[in-house]
Amino acid sequence: MINNIRTLIVLLFIPFLFNAQTKENKDSEFQEQKMEWFKDAKLGIFIHWGIYAVNGISESWSFYNNYISHEDYLKQLKGFTAKKYNPEYWAKLIAESGAKYAVITSKHHDGFALWDTKYGNLNAVKSSAAKRDVLTPFIKELRKNNLKVGIYFSLPDWSSDLYTDFTRDIKRYKIAEEPKRWEKFKKYYQGQLKELATKYNPDVWWFDGDWEHNDKEWDVPKVKAMLLKNNPYTIINSRLRQKGDYDTPEQGLPIIKPKSKYWELCMTMNESWGYQPADKHYKSSQQIIDIFVDCISKGGNLLLDIGPKADGTIPEEQVKILKDLGRWTKKHSKAIYGTEAGIPYEYYYGPTALSKDSTTLYLYVRDIPKDGKVAIRGIKNKINRIFVVGNGAILDHEVFSKVYWSTYPGLTYIDLPKQVIDENYTVIAVMLEGKIDLYDKVHGANESN
Ligand code: GLC
Repeated sequence: MINNIRTLIVLLFIPFLFNAQTKENKDSEFQEQKMEWFKDAKLGIFIHWGIYAVNGISESWSFYNNYISHEDYLKQLKGFTAKKYNPEYWAKLIAESGAKYAVITSKHHDGFALWDTKYGNLNAVKSSAAKRDVLTPFIKELRKNNLKVGIYFSLPDWSSDLYTDFTRDIKRYKIAEEPKRWEKFKKYYQGQLKELATKYNPDVWWFDGDWEHNDKEWDVPKVKAMLLKNNPYTIINSRLRQKGDYDTPEQGLPIIKPKSKYWELCMTMNESWGYQPADKHYKSSQQIIDIFVDCISKGGNLLLDIGPKADGTIPEEQVKILKDLGRWTKKHSKAIYGTEAGIPYEYYYGPTALSKDSTTLYLYVRDIPKDGKVAIRGIKNKINRIFVVGNGAILDHEVFSKVYWSTYPGLTYIDLPKQVIDENYTVIAVMLEGKIDLYDKVHGANESN
């Protein structure tokens, strides 16, 4: 009897379990579909543009950290002219770099908005020398160039009287003491978000500054629901109290492959996000491509930052890097976009990536091999063809240490003649019979002797 009751209870629950299961599957299917373009994109360009470019000082932090008074910081409004601003050129240059999306600071922690917001006066139209909305034309150009649109939005707004924090030492008030003031701030910032959502319908929301308040204080569930109601396909970064779709390591290239499925390294070209002419510590194009290749090989994206000047021109060092990137990405597009993370370093001493169907292995070769050979090991598949990406040359290879009495696949040496070497990275495509199959036994061929 008891057994029968038990069976009955289990049977009654099966439809619920099944439903929960299918809902979960559908959710993850939807998530994968939604994230697909982002995962395939690999390269995005970050743009920090604001009044801080006038003096060439750090964005927002310069007054927060008391390097300049807030009053003097705001004087930069007079110098933000956007006189030579050419959004068409910006978007073309970004497309030329090989990036598939751009993320622009609609408003940094200083509260200066690039668009014509009806919330407050601190914006390009009402209070800067530019006297116009500088965001809308750029977003139009991005779309024209088939680039996805990302909007950076700072949750903190240190210039607003309604906001809690002003500088490192000055806090205006505590939420518990003045809950109404905080409610007003929430209306203000959520109103701005709504404006941005309806005006631009961004593909990516890039939040920042969530550390200053908790989920409840920011109203995270409400904000998220509002953005997703506007567009269920919109992607949200992790800086909405970790409630977003992908991780955002900052400056530090992950050394070990991140566990999360979706991630994007945001990184400056020199040490500054905004335009700071005194900062000459630029990474070379080669070093930036090194980092980009590492991101690809670990299954992530690179969001590379530029900081335009107050007149809207892009510093020449930055233009050069974008163009150098463009040369390399155009030639190697097959081995970049839509690839998956590569294989462990034991099998190839360098970065690699795999085609989506796992039947082509891409080997990235940074330098010129001394003996003109590149080695891969432990690949069990038959190799159908090896060629140089973006060049087309078919390469010879030779297998050593493969014996007929063992499954050990041997060591493969690929000939890489000097004529096909790329100035940054040569990419070798190894076309395999079937999906990649790696030998994972601890010992080699002598295991049974
Ligand atoms: C940091 C800084 C900010 C910069 C951002 C970019 O959170 O607060 O100045 O815009 O990182 O990732």
